[in-house]
Amino acid sequence: MFLTFEGIEGSGKSTQIKILKSALEKVHFDVEITREPGWGAVGKLIRKIILDVPDLDLDSFSELSLFCADRAQHVRELIRPMLNKGKIVLCDRYCDSTLAYQGHGRKLDIDLVKKMSIASTLGLMPNVTILLDISVNTALSRIVERPGRNKIDDESFDFHTRVKKAYLGIAKDSPRVHIINGEDEEGNVHQEIKKCLSKNFSIFSRL
Ligand code: TYD
Repeated sequence: MFLTFEGIEGSGKSTQIKILKSALEKVHFDVEITREPGWGAVGKLIRKIILDVPDLDLDSFSELSLFCADRAQHVRELIRPMLNKGKIVLCDRYCDSTLAYQGHGRKLDIDLVKKMSIASTLGLMPNVTILLDISVNTALSRIVERPGRNKIDDESFDFHTRVKKAYLGIAKDSPRVHIINGEDEEGNVHQEIKKCLSKNFSIFSRL
């Protein structure tokens, strides 16, 4: 079972993934947590180029290609092998991030970004995607306090607004994507995520 988490900056994905992992382990599921970009040897190098080196002037198309390259490696080296072992994989960001950030945030050609982001999954789509929805104001106020902000965190209010709208559009078009209000207190958000999973998937009925 492959679950992805999406949302704008500061939406609480990584916190919710950790809490969900504990909840799933309590009912004896074997869970692997991962995130994009940056898994594995290739992913670590790619993450550095995209997010960490401050004065690299990266073209938007190069950025798109690097996120896609990171994903293909991630699927091949980690996600597929873990799923083949019967694990539940919880992934912080996946192909919807590319469509939202590079397609709508960077305003690249949407059809091209769709094709490239789908191709980068090597045919592996998530069973379910949790979209944690928060306002752009909440996002920006949460990331101000964040240590180690990256280049994309520092994009404009308009950029983050385009990304948020894109996510809501993706959710509308895709029944796999479930919107959860991420503004609420973290325990309540967790309850909503559990409710959503147990309602939609019989294997999660024990949650
Ligand atoms: P990261 O520091 O991993 O944190 P978070 O996911 O909590 O925001 O930042 C990853 C950044 O990369 C984030 O700003 C979103 C961006 N991103 C894209 O622009 N496109 C992508 O395809 C992916 C996976 C991430």
